Amino acid sequence: MIIVKVGGSVFSDKKGKAENFDGETVRRIAKEIVNFYPREGFIIVHGGGSFGHPYAKEYRIRDGLPGDWETAHLKRIGFTLTHQAMLRANARFIEAFVREGLPAFSVSTSSVFITENGEVAYGDLEVVERLLELKFIPVLFGDVSIDLAKGVEILSGDQIITYLAKMLEPNKVIFLMDVDGIYDGKPGEGRLIQNLPKEEILALLERLHCTSAGTDVTGGICNKLREAKKIAEHSEVWFVNGKVPGRLSGAIRGDGFGTRIARE
Ligand code: IPE
Repeated sequence: MIIVKVGGSVFSDKKGKAENFDGETVRRIAKEIVNFYPREGFIIVHGGGSFGHPYAKEYRIRDGLPGDWETAHLKRIGFTLTHQAMLRANARFIEAFVREGLPAFSVSTSSVFITENGEVAYGDLEVVERLLELKFIPVLFGDVSIDLAKGVEILSGDQIITYLAKMLEPNKVIFLMDVDGIYDGKPGEGRLIQNLPKEEILALLERLHCTSAGTDVTGGICNKLREAKKIAEHSEVWFVNGKVPGRLSGAIRGDGFGTRIARE
């Protein structure tokens, strides 16, 4: 089984109009998967892109649920609106996959996972496992979450994947991004790292100035790398450009262009 994360910047322009969706790219991703399914099982996890992020930011979901009624009430509304935006993105994914003949099935993330400070504290994977056995393609997504510490939180697709990898031990985890992989500096400036040994991730995090506080100055790459370090204990990890036709197929086959982190 292979887990594919479709980053928000692959299926939408985060700086563009609200809820813009690159249907052509998503259909092409589905077409690439058609060549391997059902010989290979798949779980898809997509990000928020121009759907979830604007609401999450506007309503400051990550700050948690405050004590006073008025502010908490507004936050509850924002929580719902963020989730609904993610359901709309998810519906677009399912439509595109089904149109290519793939039995993609939506799994509403916030009904399956509970977090503690944004990390999965509890996840019920019974339905996901049964769907896989029955040859469906479960499609999860970055979402809002009920959080044990903060009341409400955002659960990123990358965090979901770490949990799925730990519990389900996939053959491979493939992150689709809008750049060619992991660079040893800023994308475009640094050198693309094609083979990244797991034991070099910590040094790379330092070189990229990823502080322990988790400030992401390099477009989410710090969080992705930290999660990749954990995922590599359970699975091979690939980072490839989801905007370029054929790169996903290459990563599935194992001879692709991008960054590969071999399994321990
Ligand atoms: C974010 O998920 C989900 C919401 C904002 C609700 P991700 O963190 O996985 O999204 P991308 O890939 O950065 O867009």
